[in-house]
Amino acid sequence: MNSKNNFQLLVLVLILTIGVVIAGRDFYKILDVKKSASLHEIKKAYRRLAKELHPDKNKDDPDSSRKFQDLGAAYEVLSDEEKRKKYDRCGEDCLQRDGMMDGGMDPFSSFFGDFGFHFGGGEQKHETPRGADITMDVLVTLEDLYSGTFVEITRNKPVMRAAKGTRKCNCRQEMITRNLGPGRFQMMQQTVCDECPNVRLVNEERTLEMEVEPGMVDGQETKFTAEGEPHLDGDPGDLILRVKTQPHPVFERRGDDLYTNITLSLQDALTGFTMELKHLDGHMVSITRDKITWPGARIRKKGEGMPNYENNNLHGILFITFDIEFPKSELTDEQKQDIKKILNQSSNNKVYNGLRGF
Ligand SMILES: *[C@@H]1O[C@H](CO)[C@@H](O)[C@H](O)[C@H]1NC(C)=O
Ligand SMILES: *[C@@H]1O[C@H](CO)[C@@H](O)[C@H](O)[C@H]1NC(C)=O
Repeated sequence: MNSKNNFQLLVLVLILTIGVVIAGRDFYKILDVKKSASLHEIKKAYRRLAKELHPDKNKDDPDSSRKFQDLGAAYEVLSDEEKRKKYDRCGEDCLQRDGMMDGGMDPFSSFFGDFGFHFGGGEQKHETPRGADITMDVLVTLEDLYSGTFVEITRNKPVMRAAKGTRKCNCRQEMITRNLGPGRFQMMQQTVCDECPNVRLVNEERTLEMEVEPGMVDGQETKFTAEGEPHLDGDPGDLILRVKTQPHPVFERRGDDLYTNITLSLQDALTGFTMELKHLDGHMVSITRDKITWPGARIRKKGEGMPNYENNNLHGILFITFDIEFPKSELTDEQKQDIKKILNQSSNNKVYNGLRGF
């Protein structure tokens, strides 16, 4: 009985193994996302794992290169609607058969910006000339900074291509000494160049994607290594994308805190109220008061501010300041009497100059 069970288990394991081999790689598992994952979740997962699994960071793992390739393939397929549909239906083999796995997703490209370390290359040599860095502002909304998003940037980038002929390159100043006759020399500076294969600059369209991470702050930069200006005799500069927040009609951000104003009717200010405020991701924040609210009163809603960049689970505070709208219509004598009776305030109105220090 026991051995029969074992045998059945063995057969099952064999079938499963064969099944996995035939079906190809499990891209969802590689990216560690659910089958229902949104494109946003897939991008996030890819970016996180690319940082983690990059071979430069895993030199001790002989498998690191394969793992990184797997990750690139998984991203290539799951981030493309058509490929993902086909993959869901019949697996990686299907895609291979139809030539839809082009491996065009270069896992080393700085597609998502620099992951905080240099790809491949070692220390930057100072002698190598470098093209200029380009800094560009990317306008994002406060909603984007609250929930996170991906911004696609199409860049027309000049790239070097081989061309006919040669060109002067690596030019430098050298001192040369000319013999002008017995005992007479002339020293002069001369520009000396090498001959290099000719190149021409061709405009190439590149799509870059920048992740706007929740809690990013205004002015925060994402670097795309080597996406800046090219240099004929050296390395291209970097492209730097800088977050610039658009003003928001409802909220103002200071650090991780948010500020907003609410104008109450005098009636609600006196009798209390319940209302809902739509937050940046659409969730409703409920505000209830039964006490009297005076002009300039401020309440704090903990945890309803912006997510903290380092730890998205922490949120700042939402400060709500109230002002009061008084009725514009005139009151009848009778109404005035009623209000006086209800409020029963003494009439010792104060006169003061509003300045401090007196
Ligand atoms: C709230 O009102 C004050 C005073 O009018 C103003 O300075 C502030 O910018 C307002 N805040 C927002 C988020 O509109
Ligand atoms: C009105 O206020 C006075 C003192 O300010 C108090 O003595 C009186 O009881 C109050 N009347 C009512 C109806 O609350």
